[in-house]
Amino acid sequence: MFNKLLYVCFLFLPFGFTYAEIDLDLGEEINELCAGCHGEYGEGGKKGEYPRLAGLPAAYIIQQLNLFKQEKRKNMPMRPYANEREMPEQDIPSVAAFLSQIKLSTKMPVFDDTVSAYDKLLIAKKVFNIARVEGDIELGEELYIDDCQLCHGKQGMGKDDSDTPPLTGQYTQYMIKQINDFASGERWHEYAEALFSEMEADEIQAIMAYLSTMDD
Ligand code: HEC
Ligand code: HEC
Repeated sequence: MFNKLLYVCFLFLPFGFTYAEIDLDLGEEINELCAGCHGEYGEGGKKGEYPRLAGLPAAYIIQQLNLFKQEKRKNMPMRPYANEREMPEQDIPSVAAFLSQIKLSTKMPVFDDTVSAYDKLLIAKKVFNIARVEGDIELGEELYIDDCQLCHGKQGMGKDDSDTPPLTGQYTQYMIKQINDFASGERWHEYAEALFSEMEADEIQAIMAYLSTMDD
């Protein structure tokens, strides 16, 4: 009976994630493993060696974890965390949902006297703003609008509930590495050849400079 039930669940799986149980507590528990690199609140770390995961669309996180799992996106540090034993397929929607609902603010709020020092510290841990990057912001804006905006959005926020990630609020170093991986074919990106293979370092830098103004 139980087997039959499972079979029915798997049958429905391709039609959406509605049938995979989303358990935020389980997601939080799994995230303790991820936190060593990606931070307690998915804020990432080491200046972007570990990307930010907080607030990324759940559908994007699910897709990327599956790509790591299938080794279509190759990365040594992620490898042990995306295999079937550590990350069974049915757990993926829960950890993705947990990370996706974390909201980091870009500015420290103004506190009144009633807020304790401890609470201030906790709130400060969730404040995250990409440092301004050197580069030609105007050129970056032009390139961004011409080549990236259609998919990544006017504010660089990607598309909710889709496989298109935000670029605003992601680490500069991390994104430069990804763009180089797109250009070399190490990682897949739509139209990578046309978009990235002839992009000069100062053009990438300019786009990064523009994006770094977007979350201020
Ligand atoms: C040992 C360090 C480490 C641990 C632990 C780790 N990761 Fe990662 N993760 C990385 C690195 C490094 C990258 C960037 C890979 C690259 O450069 O392409 C990454 C990338 C990702 C991405 C892609 C983000 C994006 O914007 O495309 C996701 C999603 C992700 N990790 C989820 C997780 C989850 C969920 C866990 C816990 C189950 C986890 N990671 C544990 C190191 C780690
Ligand atoms: C046709 C739509 C489209 C266009 C145009 C586009 N992107 Fe993307 N981009 C995507 C999608 C979808 C992904 C996720 C790729 C995947 O499936 O792994 C992505 C991923 C990325 C990532 C990785 C983000 C992360 O968290 O790992 C970066 C960086 C990026 N794009 C930069 C750019 C830049 C810069 C431009 C303009 C020069 C651009 N993209 C144009 C759709 C697009």
